[in-house]
Amino acid sequence: MLHQAIAHNDPATPPHWSDYVVDQNWSAFSADDHAVWDLLFTRQVDLLGSRVVTPFLDGLDLLRLSKPGIPDLAELNRHLTPRTGWKTVAVEGLVPDDAFFAMLTERIFPIGNFIRRREELDYLEEPDCFHDIFGHVPMMVDPRMARLMEHVGHLGTAAIAAGRGVEIARLYWHSAEFGLCRESGEVKILGAGLTSSFGEAHFSVEDLQVARVPFTVAAAMATPYKHDSFQPLYMVSQSLDITTDAICALDPAMF
Ligand SMILES: [Fe+2]
Repeated sequence: MLHQAIAHNDPATPPHWSDYVVDQNWSAFSADDHAVWDLLFTRQVDLLGSRVVTPFLDGLDLLRLSKPGIPDLAELNRHLTPRTGWKTVAVEGLVPDDAFFAMLTERIFPIGNFIRRREELDYLEEPDCFHDIFGHVPMMVDPRMARLMEHVGHLGTAAIAAGRGVEIARLYWHSAEFGLCRESGEVKILGAGLTSSFGEAHFSVEDLQVARVPFTVAAAMATPYKHDSFQPLYMVSQSLDITTDAICALDPAMF
């Protein structure tokens, strides 16, 4: 989620984040929808190999995500919520940034209630349940990402109220969404937009021309991003501990 800035709603009648929640309606997914998930899952696990941070692979196992078919969110939550308090909910598509950040403050993560079609495996107009579940949810089992995401919610809520939401959207983008991270001396994939992307996963860590710069909160908040093409630049966290501590040290009252 949070693939593009969306104008938020009339402040006179702000909807609550729960207004965007819908039934996942899992039984409505077709056999081909489930087959598309299985194809994407198998292909992406093979592609990632050891290029991704270890907590991501641990999360896949702990959440039993290798089970065939699109995950039923109720079952997913039975594995997820007891570990770090995060809970997934279904939404129809992108939710406005203010509702998205409000969800994060309560450790709620929105999951698109649809999956891409077989003929558009590698191109997405907006994040579907493969991006949202496969990309994001495994890392929510890790206490550091669990904490980082919640704090981004508090920061984003305060930033939007101050008219500075883009700064926290960038911070989120360059860490949880498209960040890289050092692990045992190697640069690994961290962000959900990369872990769930067939084309950009390898590109982000292997392309010889693309810029990779150290992650700092100041640089991240000041650096624009692309939501409709590969990133021109990736930020590399020194470690997930260091980036989490740096983001969580930001006081929402700064806005
Ligand atoms: Fe995302």
